[in-house]
Amino acid sequence: MAKILITGTSGLLGNKITLEAKRRHIVYPTHATHPSSSRSLKMDITNENEVKQVFYKIKPEVVIHTAAETNVDKCSKDKKHAFAVNSEGTKNLAKVCNQIDARIVYISTDYVFDGEKGLYKEEDNTNPLNFYGFTKLMGEKHILEICKRYLILRTSVLYGFYHEKPNFAMWVITALKDKKPFHVVEDHYNSPTLASNLAEVTLEMVDKELDGLYHAAGSERISRYSFALRIAETFEFNTDLIKPVKMHELKAWVAKRPKDSSLCVNKVKKQIDTTLLHVSQGLKKMKMKLANLK
Ligand SMILES: NC(=O)c1ccc[n+]([C@@H]2O[C@H](COP(=O)([O-])OP(=O)(O)OC[C@H]3O[C@@H](n4cnc5c(N)ncnc54)[C@H](OP(=O)(O)O)[C@@H]3O)[C@@H](O)[C@H]2O)c1
Repeated sequence: MAKILITGTSGLLGNKITLEAKRRHIVYPTHATHPSSSRSLKMDITNENEVKQVFYKIKPEVVIHTAAETNVDKCSKDKKHAFAVNSEGTKNLAKVCNQIDARIVYISTDYVFDGEKGLYKEEDNTNPLNFYGFTKLMGEKHILEICKRYLILRTSVLYGFYHEKPNFAMWVITALKDKKPFHVVEDHYNSPTLASNLAEVTLEMVDKELDGLYHAAGSERISRYSFALRIAETFEFNTDLIKPVKMHELKAWVAKRPKDSSLCVNKVKKQIDTTLLHVSQGLKKMKMKLANLK
C-alpha cells in the first residue's frame, strides 16, 4: 500500500485512476478548480508554492499526473495558459517529486507525433503539429531531465462513461439520442482508449514499479468515423445519422490535427497482464457500466 497523490481528479482519466488506486492504496486526490470529493486538496499545478505546500504535507511516494489543459483548440488560442499548465505545471511537479524522492507517472499524448506514419513506437521521432502537442512534449522533457524515477505513458483519444465532462463517445451517444445527423472525420486515425482500462494499466505498472516511456492505449487503430459507427452499433442507434467528412472540410478546428497518431502498444503489452482493449471490447464494457447504473 503506497501513498499516491493524483492530479486532475475531476477529469475523465483522473476520476478512473482515483477509483482504481483506492482499491489498494492511500489516495490523495487534488484539483485546481473542481474538487472531485470533499477529501480533494486544492493544488493549482501552475502555483509552485501551492504545489510545495501540498507535497511537503502529504509526502506522497507516487504521483500520478493526469492534469492538463486538454482542449486542443484552446491551447492554440491561449498559448500562455497552455504553456503554464502543461509545460511549467509539469515542471513544478517534477522538481518537487525529485526533492521528496517520489516516483512520478506522467500521462502524455499521441499528439507529440505529426501523424504522417501512424502506429508510432516509443523510439519514433516526435514532431507535434499543434501547441497542445508541443506543451505536452515539453512536459515529457521536464520529467526526463529532472526526475530520477519516472513513468511516461502516452495515450490516445480517451473515452468512457463520465458525466462531469463530455468525451467523444459520450458526445456521439448524446447526438444519436437527439436523432440529428452530424459529421465525423473519416481521414483522422488514432487508438481510442477506454479510460478505465488505462487506469487499470497505470495501477498495474505502478504496483510493478515499472519506469520509462511507454505507449499505453487501446490496441486498435481506427478512424474517428469508424469509431463513431461502432459506438452507434454497440448502443443500438441509427448509423445513418453519422456522415463522413474530411479533415480539411472541418471549419470548427482551430489547431491542426495529426492525420494518423495511432500508437503501437507492443512494448507495454510485454510488461502487463491487463488486456489493452479493442474498440468493440471497450465499448461493450462502457455499455455494461451504463446498464448497471439504470
Ligand atoms: N482526452 C484525451 O483524449 C487524451 C488523449 C491523449 C492524452 N490525454 C492526456 O491524458 C490526461 C487526462 O486527460 P483527460 O481528458 O482525462 O483530462 P480532462 O478531463 O480534460 O481533465 C483535465 C484535468 O486537469 C485539471 N487541471 C487543469 N488545469 C489545472 C491546473 N492548473 N492545476 C491542476 N489541475 C488542473 C482539471 O482540474 P480542475 O477541474 O480542478 O480544473 C481536470 O481535472 C491529460 O494529461 C491529457 O493530456 C488525453
